[in-house]
Amino acid sequence: MEIAILNDNACARFGADLVEDLLQRKPTAVLGLATGASPLGVYRELGRRVAKGTVNLSGITAFTLDEYLGLPADHPERYRNVILREFANLVGVSAENIHTPDDSATDLDAACEQYERDIARAGGIDLQILGIGTDGHIAFNGPGSSLGSRTRLKALSKQTRIDNARYFDDALDKVPTHCITQGLATILDARHIVLLAEGVRKARAVVQLVDGPVSARWPASILQMHPRVTVILDQSAAQYLRDTDYYQRAFASRAERAAQF
Ligand code: PGA
Repeated sequence: MEIAILNDNACARFGADLVEDLLQRKPTAVLGLATGASPLGVYRELGRRVAKGTVNLSGITAFTLDEYLGLPADHPERYRNVILREFANLVGVSAENIHTPDDSATDLDAACEQYERDIARAGGIDLQILGIGTDGHIAFNGPGSSLGSRTRLKALSKQTRIDNARYFDDALDKVPTHCITQGLATILDARHIVLLAEGVRKARAVVQLVDGPVSARWPASILQMHPRVTVILDQSAAQYLRDTDYYQRAFASRAERAAQF
């Protein structure tokens, strides 16, 4: 794992740099997109770069991680609507290039299998952007999720529903109870995973992600098994990590290496 511990604005800039580097090599890259607050800074920074003309995302295809079940098609918190509003509209990607799990399918299990096939047909995810829940979830894979899981229907954990009530007028009963989510094994298929976490409320989950045993109790810990993960943290989210000196030296030498070539 590469751990970058940065000041607030630098987190979004570094995340956007990683996307920009990929697009320079592969303008038709396949991106995996997360919803939630964590990636918003990266999306806005990419939007600024698109507006300045320094980066072009018009050739990409994107797949989101998950979708609530039971929200009306035009609900502002339905993740398809969130990602069109917070990402696609900002960076100039057309809606037809944004794929989201089909929450309206009559056969939801078939829709989950179809989503896996669609990702494979697009060539797989080149770069997956992730947040992390306070309980260590990634996408909607909460504690107890199978480490080998694929896209499927899930009941949302109580903690996730409490955390997300802020998007539903702080009313827990308005938060959906079920979702479709990519599984942990689906996420691990991405070639590069970039996880962002900011703030003290994420610090406990972050230490389990980086230093904890690999365990379904903290699903993000499965990322320790992936060969290319970049974890971007602010100082608060990183505060319980051991070895922060090492991470900071390694990250600084990355910049020196890049300058040499
Ligand atoms: P957040 O959520 O980015 O809104 O903190 C992260 C997550 O639940 O995965």
